[in-house]
Amino acid sequence: MSTDNLLGIAEIADLAGVTKQAVSNWRMRYDDFPRPIQKLQSGPVWEREKVEVWVKSFKGEETHVLSFINLKGGVGKTTTAVAVAEILAQEERKHVLLVDLDPQTNATVNLISEDQWAGMDKDGRTIAQLFEDRLNPHNSPKFDVEKAIARRVSTINDGIARLDLLPSSIRLIDLQDRIPMIALSGNYTANPLEILRSAIQPVIDRYDYILIDCPPSLGTVTKNGLRISTGYVIPTIPDIVSTWGIYQIVDNVARFAQDIGLPIPPLGIVATKVQVNNLHARIIADLKAKRLGRFNEAGVLSQPPLFSNEIPQTVAVARGADVDADIRTFKGKYGNAYDALRGLTQEIKQLCEKKKH
Ligand SMILES: Nc1ncnc2c1ncn2[C@@H]1O[C@H](COP(=O)(O)OP(=O)(O)OP(=O)(O)O)[C@@H](O)[C@H]1O
Ligand SMILES: [Mg+2]
Repeated sequence: MSTDNLLGIAEIADLAGVTKQAVSNWRMRYDDFPRPIQKLQSGPVWEREKVEVWVKSFKGEETHVLSFINLKGGVGKTTTAVAVAEILAQEERKHVLLVDLDPQTNATVNLISEDQWAGMDKDGRTIAQLFEDRLNPHNSPKFDVEKAIARRVSTINDGIARLDLLPSSIRLIDLQDRIPMIALSGNYTANPLEILRSAIQPVIDRYDYILIDCPPSLGTVTKNGLRISTGYVIPTIPDIVSTWGIYQIVDNVARFAQDIGLPIPPLGIVATKVQVNNLHARIIADLKAKRLGRFNEAGVLSQPPLFSNEIPQTVAVARGADVDADIRTFKGKYGNAYDALRGLTQEIKQLCEKKKH
């Protein structure tokens, strides 16, 4: 275990934003405060992860659950969700779970090797197995959330310590159309919109952020993600076809949120794959000024704001799947887009963390 994963009392105080005396008090007062794993000459040391989880739960900090949505395919949803997850975990030291709800499994194979994925899929350790269990309530369930979570994922540094993944599977394609029927059949007890929530409930508290990579649709699987979301992000290429569906997303999510009686606010729109040309410049100007077509015409919903960091189209991101590319560093994986992705992550973090405090 590297020293990066060990904390002394002073560092715990620092992490929790309290005095060393307060940490000593916690140790005495709370039986569930983690036990030190070693006593060094300088004093006792703890495992960082255990302490971070305890402090988060002690302070009652909430878990931010964000869906990345657009009805249009290929607009950078997966790229943005994966990069924000990696940066939150590595640079902001947050505990992050990325949930891949897309049967295309792009986020999954971005974060773990195809071999690891194949093994997990074979053992039923994917989101597809979760839904399959609910479709076959007479068989004994195979999905176990603890086993389905791959830990320390990402190509960066050959794995990022606080970043976990709940993988998807192409098997979800065959299942997804049957999921809405769960409620209709007398044999099934589960509400089809509660499947993801009930499965991951036991692990939610472990994370500061859960990011959900959604398929390009607003079907039952995406709604399972929205059901647990505390907000959502809309990645879009700043062109006409990619921004066309944004009104529909905002409208649909607002109605869904109203149905379930929980707020699911849009955090903002991210301009992705931005190129230097007149069309992109014009659409970005419209998005900045909140002038996106149908929002103005309908006049009921307001357009979500544009994040100030725009993600440029870069060679590094486009060749991401290239096995020869050095994707073990942020610069290698994201090239010139890295600074904007880092800035976007900070914007998202500020929006999430300012709400309550
Ligand atoms: N900033 C970028 N520069 C260059 N290529 C990019 C950038 N962002 C994404 N891409 C590429 O564009 C393609 C689509 O991106 P991505 O998979 O993130 O979109 P998506 O919205 O998740 O797509 P889908 O709807 O199919 O899930 C991918 O090949 C990706 O590598
Ligand atoms: Mg995708």
